[in-house]
Amino acid sequence: MNGIKLISTGSALPKQAVTNHDMAKIVDTNDEWIVSRTGISSRHHCSDGENHTGLCLAAARQAMEQGGIAPEQIGVCIVATVTPDFLSPAAACLLQRDLGLGEDTVCFDLNAACSGFVYGLHVAECLLAAAPRKYGLVIGGEVLSRVVDFTDRSTCVLFGDGAGAALVEWRADYPSLHAVLGCRGNQEALYVPGVHTGQPSFVHMDGQTVFRFAVEALPRCAKEVADKAGIALDQVDRFVFHQANQRIIDFAVKKLKVDPDKCTGNIARTGNTSAASVPLLLDELVASGALTSGQKAMCVGFGGGLTWAGGLLELA
Ligand code: UT7
Repeated sequence: MNGIKLISTGSALPKQAVTNHDMAKIVDTNDEWIVSRTGISSRHHCSDGENHTGLCLAAARQAMEQGGIAPEQIGVCIVATVTPDFLSPAAACLLQRDLGLGEDTVCFDLNAACSGFVYGLHVAECLLAAAPRKYGLVIGGEVLSRVVDFTDRSTCVLFGDGAGAALVEWRADYPSLHAVLGCRGNQEALYVPGVHTGQPSFVHMDGQTVFRFAVEALPRCAKEVADKAGIALDQVDRFVFHQANQRIIDFAVKKLKVDPDKCTGNIARTGNTSAASVPLLLDELVASGALTSGQKAMCVGFGGGLTWAGGLLELA
């Protein structure tokens, strides 16, 4: 078994950008607090007529168009999400229908919160090794505006909506992701109650506990991936870290002693989009030419679960 490369990417953001000043009209907050504590200036929220399925579909279509890959070439379609439109059918099943993927395509949703997209890359790598068709779609999509409590200033200012898609190809001569995935089961630090709990399905987060977890897990995971791949961190061309808080990223950059110019992100414009955050940033980097053919991106997610996931993804 060997590995996958990134063929192409796509993304979709809702039309409406909601600035910190807009948030200050809803809860007792201000631009200075949000920017200095998180690095976020605005985020996107779905309006009427926009939804999770639509965002994922637009991102996946764009990736397929960019890659010049037809629906019948796709063997696996995974949507990483904690906010699908339906608990069943899976968002991936709706994409199978709307993208016209073959009925024998392996389609399912994956819940590993903010680590979900990188979990999905690893799962796709494993499944594609055994699949008859070697192209896979891995999408991270979230509509977190539907599960935030707009009376809780400590969470509602953080999260945004969006979807990013990666089209990958498995080949025997492609490098492995050298994925490092993990989980430290925890129900209290970051959770969204399910439909039968009798509690509203809002995000609850003990920010400081999750912050302490993040600044430990992110650099550890990045280092473990590099060790597994047998490369030094300075051989990595781009770091695509989950965009949860600019302070977490700054801490990891310092700890890992990597070039900050290789770690630029988009949190200022997107907020925290959970499973969508890594693929949204990947798409920006590919579209802007900041990640070019043959270059390696170290992708790392961390968050609810508590989970973490890292992998080294090369652009074909
Ligand atoms: O994506 C999954 C992973 N998620 C993360 O990695 C998030 C990790 N956590 C964090 O990023 C940070 O903990 C937060 C950004 C969530 C919070 O930052 P903090 O520096 O840990 O703030 P805090 O929770 O300690 O709150 C400090 C103060 C409190 O006031 P007092 O008690 O000191 O008077 C809060 O009530 O800031 C207050 N506060 C706010 N003030 C203005 C909390 N939210 C706000 C707000 N606007 N939106």
